[in-house]
Amino acid sequence: MLSSIVVLASGSGSNLQSIIEHARQGHIKAEIAAVVSDNPDAMALVRARTAGIDSVLIRQSDYASREMWELALSQKVSEYRPALVVLAGFMRVLSEQFIMRFEKRVMNIHPSLLPAYRGLNTHQRVIDAGDSEHGATVHFVTSRLDDGPIVMQSRVQVLPGDDAEELARRVLEQEHVIYPEAIRQFIEGEISFDNPACC
Ligand code: GAR
Repeated sequence: MLSSIVVLASGSGSNLQSIIEHARQGHIKAEIAAVVSDNPDAMALVRARTAGIDSVLIRQSDYASREMWELALSQKVSEYRPALVVLAGFMRVLSEQFIMRFEKRVMNIHPSLLPAYRGLNTHQRVIDAGDSEHGATVHFVTSRLDDGPIVMQSRVQVLPGDDAEELARRVLEQEHVIYPEAIRQFIEGEISFDNPACC
């Protein structure tokens, strides 16, 4: 039986789409069992439905507290018994309780060369700093923001005249390559939290 993956996404879901294509083509030997979002307007939910994947909305405003929302989220994710939980533009920080429940099985992609530029607006911050290099990082998740063992990075040159939008576009192109590859390596047992094989 194929391992199952659950993807959490808040936005456009272009990384999700790339993962869906790689699974469809057999590069990732796993079933994307569900896509869960905190955002009713997330294009990621539409992409999931179009691909015939369970799409689930769990929004915080439907719960009395952040803790109750996160508990509902982790219970839903658990139902799918995922081998891996994939954060693909999921714009919420998850608590230690959530991370512990899926210990060593949560992966994230972040648009910077971590440990540089944790947090938001990474592209503009790279331009403002005058850096010549930028990129994306796939890492295992801990309860610290944009932290945890690094699995893979891809570098992008910052070109004269780049604005944040153009830089984001080129970084995203790289994300679509490295994230499916990192997931493939995890599913095939080539890497793990304790053996991330990078950096
Ligand atoms: C991606 O650039 C991803 O790296 C970033 O959100 C974007 C989602 O795009 N994630 C973070 O900033 C997490 N800290 P997508 O919805 O098109 O995949």
